[in-house]
Amino acid sequence: MSLSRTSDVLVIGGGVIGLVTAWRAAQRGLRTAVVDPEPGGGAARVAAGMLAAVTELHHGEQTLLGLNLASARRYPDFAAELSELTGHDLGYRRCGTLAVALDADDRAHLRELHALQRASGLESEWLSGRECRRLEPMLAPGVRGGLRVDGDHQIDPRRLAAALVAACERAGVVFHRAWAERLVVQQDRAAGCELRDGTRLGAEQVVLAAGSRSGQLAGVPDDVLPPVRPVKGQVVRLTVPKRYAPFLNRTVRAVVRGSQVYLVPRLSGELVIGATTEELGWDTTVTAGGVYELLRDAHELVPGITELPLTETRAGLRPGSPDNAPLLGPTELPGLLLATGHYRNGVLLTPVTGDALAHALTTGELPDV
Ligand code: GLY
Repeated sequence: MSLSRTSDVLVIGGGVIGLVTAWRAAQRGLRTAVVDPEPGGGAARVAAGMLAAVTELHHGEQTLLGLNLASARRYPDFAAELSELTGHDLGYRRCGTLAVALDADDRAHLRELHALQRASGLESEWLSGRECRRLEPMLAPGVRGGLRVDGDHQIDPRRLAAALVAACERAGVVFHRAWAERLVVQQDRAAGCELRDGTRLGAEQVVLAAGSRSGQLAGVPDDVLPPVRPVKGQVVRLTVPKRYAPFLNRTVRAVVRGSQVYLVPRLSGELVIGATTEELGWDTTVTAGGVYELLRDAHELVPGITELPLTETRAGLRPGSPDNAPLLGPTELPGLLLATGHYRNGVLLTPVTGDALAHALTTGELPDV
């Protein structure tokens, strides 16, 4: 079947990463198309939207930290530009984060995190349990201490995705609402993709931004296929009735018995509680056990949640990479670029990914960030 070049850039995957790549590419004058059966879907439908470069710092992730911080710095301008352009409210909230400890083990863990943050030149403040409860009166009386991080904010990922779809449409991005079945390679370069119905779309450059599915696309040579795997996360959503507002003023999180739990309060009244981390392949079942653990741990932190209506339970698949850092930029196959493997940081890394990929698509190289 013939392959005519219909665009300069073809982005496979219409989650927030694919969309921001397409938007930024189109802004630079590249004729851009996105292939996805449901643009604006993907892991961002489930994500809580924490912009947590500082509170999600882990040992051994210093390179990722630099990228996370670069993206966090871009967020205010990025959100303002996107919101102004589309008229969408993104739910961007510069509310800060409080990470708390409930017992001696959690406290030791948090002290360790504080030391790592300070060694990395990051701003965070150690608070006593009483100081934590003064900031967040709904916290359990047993809270032993906490870290106040005013620089870790939040955005509503569903609103972000919807705004990016609108921005792409305004910039002239063409949407093909279908599954990409196979990468088309011609004369040793990526030349487009084949859809499930056999249609072939040609492009000068192809960006593989298919989230956890990025390692599955047929036709990608083995040595180029990104080592991305699905990592399941279950999330529950509660609603804070107006009479209880403000229930929480900022994101509250903790490690409870070794598991991360976070509560992200939106101005809309939504309270997102997440998330499990499960290596179960492609399974997206919401389980009684997953929901039970989230609610149990969140209840230990904020007992009052049991009064709130439970409005949604959902599971999504994070695109995990070997070192938890994303795979970005040109590959060994000419014409094929990657924007995938963002694991826990897809929403946070959206601005920097869009800028980096647009640079790579126009110059052939990734920029220094
Ligand atoms: N960044 C939060 C999560 O992946 O659960």
